[in-house]
Amino acid sequence: MSSFILNTEYLEIPVQGPAFDLSSAPRVASGPGAPTPAPSPAFTIVSKLAHWDEKASVRVKPRRVLLRDEEAEGKTFFTPELVPVSRHPLVARLGPEAVRALQVKTLYRYLDFTKRLELDAISVVAADIALGRAGPELPDVMRQDAFKLCTDEAHHAYFSDDMKRQVAEATGVAVEDSSTPRFLRRLRAIRRDLPRDQRRLALALFSVVSETLISGILCQVPKDERVVTSVREMVADHAEDEGRHSAFFSQFFGYLWPRLGNSLRAELGPLLPEFIQAFLEPDKTPIRRSLRALPLHPDEVETILAESYPPAEVAASTRQAATVTLHLFERHGVMDDPHLADAFRERGLRD
Ligand SMILES: [Fe+2]
Ligand SMILES: [Fe+2]
Repeated sequence: MSSFILNTEYLEIPVQGPAFDLSSAPRVASGPGAPTPAPSPAFTIVSKLAHWDEKASVRVKPRRVLLRDEEAEGKTFFTPELVPVSRHPLVARLGPEAVRALQVKTLYRYLDFTKRLELDAISVVAADIALGRAGPELPDVMRQDAFKLCTDEAHHAYFSDDMKRQVAEATGVAVEDSSTPRFLRRLRAIRRDLPRDQRRLALALFSVVSETLISGILCQVPKDERVVTSVREMVADHAEDEGRHSAFFSQFFGYLWPRLGNSLRAELGPLLPEFIQAFLEPDKTPIRRSLRALPLHPDEVETILAESYPPAEVAASTRQAATVTLHLFERHGVMDDPHLADAFRERGLRD
């Protein structure tokens, strides 16, 4: 038997459970003490990927290739401010090679994170929508968009993998074992605790969250002229596609949320702030591994980690990145339910 089959991580990929089906979701208030039903907003479903053939990176952008040695011109492989551990004095004193290794490994991690997000989460939901598994009532225009979305995400996974291979070859910085990203571990744990028939729906809500958040990486790296050109271009290609995906998933949420019915909204709604946090909080396990590869004492590694991610700063940047997502939820009445508003407040996402 091949090791592929025996790989327990493969067996645990988050697709177990039946696809969510909007047609079976209750339409009216249900259960004693159910919160006030959310109004079903009257809005027209339109394609959010209408000009996809002329705009999608898979259609119109070239392969991004590391053409020349831009490092010799002083360029880096990642925005230094997005690698706070590399700016810590205990790392700086080790010299530029240590700083470079941490920057390159952060790029590797970002590329691995992207691959897993695209293939283990977003594509699964997009396929459910495209194939009508999310219920026969999903508007056809949304299903058609979802096919394009599947294509985009597969392409993003591919070009992330391609870039990682190129950077590893160009820099010689060791590729560490890529563990399952924190967000996926959290997502799995959350879904394991849910009834089977809610797991795919939870994945759909997670996709709404992750596709509408605006990460610092997508915003900052394309504009940062200190970063090597092909990496900036690759992140810019991705960010452009994601702008359309954000519009798609915002519309999808507006369609989905009122149709869930009060019970499901009350049960799954508290997961929304949890998903925001799970997606945006720093994944310290692989960062610790990269630091331990440097000549640092274990106590120094813990000091660097603690001082590089002050909780107040992490909370502020999480809220900043979630601005669009939080507005989306407000617009569709999520916060009108005091129980859900509290769930956001408890996680520092609401005053
Ligand atoms: Fe993507
Ligand atoms: Fe996307």
